[in-house]
Amino acid sequence: MGNEASTPYEGSTEVLEGRDIPSIVKYMKSKKCKKVFVMLGAGVSTAAGIPDFRSPETGLYANLARLNLPYPEAVFEINYFRQNPLPFYTLARELYPGRFRPTLTHTFVKLLADHSYLDTCFTQNIDTLERQAGVPGDKIVEAHGSFADQHCIECHASCDSAKMKAAIEKGDIVRCEQCKGLVKPDIVFFGESLPPLFQRTVPRLREADLLFVIGTSLKVHPFASLTDLVPESCPRVLINMEPAGNIGSRPDDVVLLGRCDEVVRKLARELGWDNELDREWRKTEILVPLDTLRKGNTGSEEIVAESEKEAVAAKHTEPEAAGDSEAAVAKEEARVEAEVEKLTEQIAKTLDISRDVSESGGRSETVETKPPETSSSVMSTVTGASAASLRGQSHERVTSTPTPDPEGLKEQKEKEKEKL
Ligand code: OAD
Repeated sequence: MGNEASTPYEGSTEVLEGRDIPSIVKYMKSKKCKKVFVMLGAGVSTAAGIPDFRSPETGLYANLARLNLPYPEAVFEINYFRQNPLPFYTLARELYPGRFRPTLTHTFVKLLADHSYLDTCFTQNIDTLERQAGVPGDKIVEAHGSFADQHCIECHASCDSAKMKAAIEKGDIVRCEQCKGLVKPDIVFFGESLPPLFQRTVPRLREADLLFVIGTSLKVHPFASLTDLVPESCPRVLINMEPAGNIGSRPDDVVLLGRCDEVVRKLARELGWDNELDREWRKTEILVPLDTLRKGNTGSEEIVAESEKEAVAAKHTEPEAAGDSEAAVAKEEARVEAEVEKLTEQIAKTLDISRDVSESGGRSETVETKPPETSSSVMSTVTGASAASLRGQSHERVTSTPTPDPEGLKEQKEKEKEKL
């Protein structure tokens, strides 16, 4: 599934001592490694329960038969959307942010920022999990847009987010109040231009000291072309289930195949960030509805093997036949009480954290909308699109990590109790 063009380089390395994790970490700890860039794809969110696109059996494109599309990518094609918006709206309901927890890999990117390594995290994902993990908004470039804003595809008038959210939940198609055109979240479709922020940030890659490419098949351009923009002297590290693009063809390319959460865990261990990784990832727990956790969606692939084994095991366990016997009810009640206690503590902690962050200006909420411009660079799966043609954009958006709503959580906890 990766780009077939890749020819593995078999000579010796030039910058790194070797093509392995200790060599990457040794380089990161040296004075040479100051600016780290990250490119993310759908593979970083599969552990959160969001399918990727192109994995043969589990990917979204392999599971869209129910939408009766002429071909899977049509769901993200602007011309098809004009004729038939229903498939996209159906999918949007499933993908809508807020129901998912960041993974260890998202948290690892946050640690890169915390340790002043991260220059920019380019992401193709529309799930906003980088922000939820605490990666600063000004370090994220959502190259394929997000659900943060929405506009009419004809007159480009903005549409209210609450209205859009309610419509998506109900499965209704939203039309523009002004011209009755179709309204679409600002996700970049095939045939549309990438956001201006993408264009503005891309040149920074020329100064990269290290590039991590994680969880992407590198099939979609112009995003995939970014890997060619870093200097030859910049080690490129691919962390993916399979080879992708031409990573592996340069002397200092490192290909680490496997589940990204497991690979970043090893990297974190080598960097001495192991405990920090767990601690930061734990903070994201508060953002996940309890019922999502009960369905076994923990947000991490390998946490079971880690220090949180017990806690996660509790979350994976469905309530044991509550009501079958008094003992079972009492046991379950005690468990929920403990969970409620834990959540209460976490709410308090997270509110403190949010306050700290907003006071220091770390995460801000700015929504900027620019009128669309004509463009020569649109998203496509055409392999080999030139990096030089990365031009032209339509919208820019920056949103903040949502602050947990204590009232909502309280209500949620009450509901949990009632279920008993
Ligand atoms: P793809 O589905 O094309 O690729 C995901 C990659 O992640 C594959 O190579 C998987 O093998 C790998 N993968 C899956 N789970 C993994 C895991 N746990 N650990 C490591 N690797 C894993 O997704 P993208 O490359 O992100 O556009 O796709 C790019 C664009 O194509 C998307 O942004 C989307 C789509 O059309 C829009 O939504 C507009």
